[in-house]
Amino acid sequence: MAVSMQTCTSWFAGPRRMVRCSLNLSVAAVLSLASALACAADSADAEAGRALFLKGTTPACVICHTLADAGSTGTIGPNLDELKPDENRVAQAVRNGIGVMPAFEALSDEQVQALAKYVSGAVR
Ligand code: HEC
Repeated sequence: MAVSMQTCTSWFAGPRRMVRCSLNLSVAAVLSLASALACAADSADAEAGRALFLKGTTPACVICHTLADAGSTGTIGPNLDELKPDENRVAQAVRNGIGVMPAFEALSDEQVQALAKYVSGAVR
């Protein structure tokens, strides 16, 4: 982006330069729009995951787990800030259960995915 802006400031170098300049700009615009959209989708997922973590499951994750981002202090399960599970590990635990943690069979794949994204992102 910064590079194409620079090219733009030398518009006086002639008409050919100007054409290249506007091409550069539109490519940059499309790219930044694409990354803005991807970013929005990601944070929507994380928001959904956070809501699920706080009170969207039965029993709620917060009852058993400490997670600073969610403001939870449960001590029945491991402290997730310390464990730092990756996305796959969270999904496995939620989907299948582990130890005394129950399997959350009522959750859709999308919900498990949102939870996994949220928790793994919050502890990174
Ligand atoms: C009833 C209490 C309880 C609830 C509710 C609960 N957990 Fe757990 N969780 C545990 C316990 C206990 C363990 C450790 C199990 C073991 O290692 O034997 C655990 C382990 C985990 C782990 C680590 C898994 C691993 O591979 O070591 C993750 C991640 C996790 N829980 C996420 C969640 C999420 C997300 C939720 C909400 C959907 C949740 N937990 C709800 C008790 C709970």
